[in-house]
Amino acid sequence: MTNMIRSFLAMMALLLFQQGFSQKFEQLALTPPMGWNSWNKFACDGVNEQVIRKTADAMVSSGMKDAGYEYVVIDDCWQIGRDSSGNIMPDPKKFPSGIKALADYVHSKGLKFGIYTCAGTLTCAGRPGSLGHEYQDAISYARWGVDYLKEDWCNTEGQNAQQSYKLMRDALYKAGRPIVFSLCEWGSNKPWEWAGEVGHLWRSSGDISDSWSKSGADDGRIWGGSVLVNLDLQQGLEKYAGPGRWNDPDMLEVGNGGLTTAENRAHFSLWCVLAAPLIAGNDLSNMSKETVSTLTNKEVIALDQDKLGKQGYLIENEEYFQIYLKPLSGGDTAICLFNRGDQTKEANIDWKKYKIGAGHSIRDLWKKQAAGTTATSFKASIPKHDVVVLRLSN
Ligand code: GLA
Repeated sequence: MTNMIRSFLAMMALLLFQQGFSQKFEQLALTPPMGWNSWNKFACDGVNEQVIRKTADAMVSSGMKDAGYEYVVIDDCWQIGRDSSGNIMPDPKKFPSGIKALADYVHSKGLKFGIYTCAGTLTCAGRPGSLGHEYQDAISYARWGVDYLKEDWCNTEGQNAQQSYKLMRDALYKAGRPIVFSLCEWGSNKPWEWAGEVGHLWRSSGDISDSWSKSGADDGRIWGGSVLVNLDLQQGLEKYAGPGRWNDPDMLEVGNGGLTTAENRAHFSLWCVLAAPLIAGNDLSNMSKETVSTLTNKEVIALDQDKLGKQGYLIENEEYFQIYLKPLSGGDTAICLFNRGDQTKEANIDWKKYKIGAGHSIRDLWKKQAAGTTATSFKASIPKHDVVVLRLSN
């Protein structure tokens, strides 16, 4: 072998070796992840291991597991510092049994376990971030049995988002345990354009709040969003979503008290039609019947979890009335009629206007009954802030 061939082969081997670690785990989150996260309800002060255990219990006993929810994710404030070797340490007051024991408990219920970190020096709540410890933290997560990691974007001054998230992606891959990777940089660096190669979902809005329409000072792009603000930020992003790569308009507020029954139903339905991750954010151990029936409507969840993985988009956009369409596998179509206004909407849908043929049967997924065919126009009286969700079948 000449020296040239030898050095060429050495270079190829090096490239292959590097590439081996430069990828996300494939075959994960082929449909939008479903689960629960502690932040919306318990925030920093309220989270501890009892909450996580009770949540895992309730996910099973409430029927949510049966409806498809599987990840139990601890958000910020589980971590307190690093030991002398730099290993991340859980807060011993909140998590006295340690993270491994908690992950084992969650797994014993047939569920999966998730955790939170931040790409910067400190998390958004001021706990230690992963900057400079990515590989070490990924090894801890893998050892503990973590299945899902959310990585936030606070305290990242001077950092490049793509590079930072790729670093954690590579660290997770090297640690060897398949972990769903959830990027949480709020859409600041247009993650939909690059994060498909990096993680399985990426936030495409700022933080939701338990509010229908509130908008923060920055239009909800980072702080103080709401159902409507976060929803509207998804427009035009549908082409970036698909199996293993999802836009994330933030976690659900269903059941947290700030929304009416109609608003909870609309919020949930719209997230399903958007193929959004369905991460509940309420107290699962204390849910009203209404909350349970909203969160566990299997026919609406089936739209979200449809294996074609298409994100729904607007086909009608009046000021107070919108129609979302989501193509489904097998040629079915989901339609969400959404009354944003404060008056009841008397909808009269002429299917031809949307190039929907006459040959479909219609099922109303909240009334859970057949609702005619597309041969005639569809009439419905939709209360304020409510939806009618239809499945059109061949
Ligand atoms: C940011 C994230 C939230 C939550 C908090 C935790 O605001 O966007 O989802 O994780 O940090 O501090």
